[in-house]
Amino acid sequence: MTDRYAVLGHPIGHSKSPLIHRLFAQATAQDIDYTAIEAPLDGFKQTVLGFRAEGGRGVNVTLPFKLQAFEIATDPSDRARLAGAANCLKFEGERIRADNFDGVGLVNDLQRNLDCPLAGKRVLLLGAGGATRGVLLPIAAEQAAGLWIANRTADKAHALRQDFAAHAALHSGGFEALAGHSFDVVINATSTGLTQEALPLPAGVFAPGALAYEMVYGKGLTPFLQQARAAGVQRVADGVGMLVEQAAEAFVWWRGVRPDTRAVIDRLTVPLV
Ligand code: ATR
Repeated sequence: MTDRYAVLGHPIGHSKSPLIHRLFAQATAQDIDYTAIEAPLDGFKQTVLGFRAEGGRGVNVTLPFKLQAFEIATDPSDRARLAGAANCLKFEGERIRADNFDGVGLVNDLQRNLDCPLAGKRVLLLGAGGATRGVLLPIAAEQAAGLWIANRTADKAHALRQDFAAHAALHSGGFEALAGHSFDVVINATSTGLTQEALPLPAGVFAPGALAYEMVYGKGLTPFLQQARAAGVQRVADGVGMLVEQAAEAFVWWRGVRPDTRAVIDRLTVPLV
């Protein structure tokens, strides 16, 4: 029998997840059906439970429901617990398991696809919202030489540092605190990739040979990536690989089979121009 999965969000029309999972299923000969469901803003839990009652086996969860996905879980992973958010649920009888694959997806994209091991690197995360919180733990596990969080509102960066203090030695501050520091990997986890606003980054924030990574995907050269290019950065990437890698983690978790990601990333890549 065909097993059913879905991605839930609001809005959801833009989601690439059905295409990605369909390609994974074809490549691994898995008999699954994967759809996109727009849950009402005040009806996330009912939509999840309704999908499960109709035989659904699991769901991916995107904005704005990642916090609620964590809340309805009976068995959240440590990653999901620290993020306070989940992007993937698996139904097992009455249990709802939850995990958050955004961070491992980002780390796999950086290290495997972009050949950028984080160990020994100076890493800067821009932003202190849900996107940063969701990826912090897996990044912190990679033994970077230093891990900074810089945010427009410095207090939010400090709060994040305190929340993760037991798990990672972080530096935190506003953008002005970056003056005089440079980084090998700079990741934009603010929402400016979507709003096309520039960030007030001090000159010199990009070390020679740095990689600039925009977490948003498919938007071409965002203001952040343009800033990086203008600073002489040669290696720029957007979040298409992170998207596909987090989907691959979900697929393995649900199906027990690891799909190849390269061809899917190539298919979804929008040139950075
Ligand atoms: P998400 O879940 O995408 O992280 P969020 O929790 O609303 O969304 O967080 C948005 C992040 O983008 C925050 O770090 C926000 O900075 P503030 O905490 O100071 O609001 C950041 N952000 C949004 N617009 C920005 C801008 N124009 N310049 C700098 N940072 C911005």
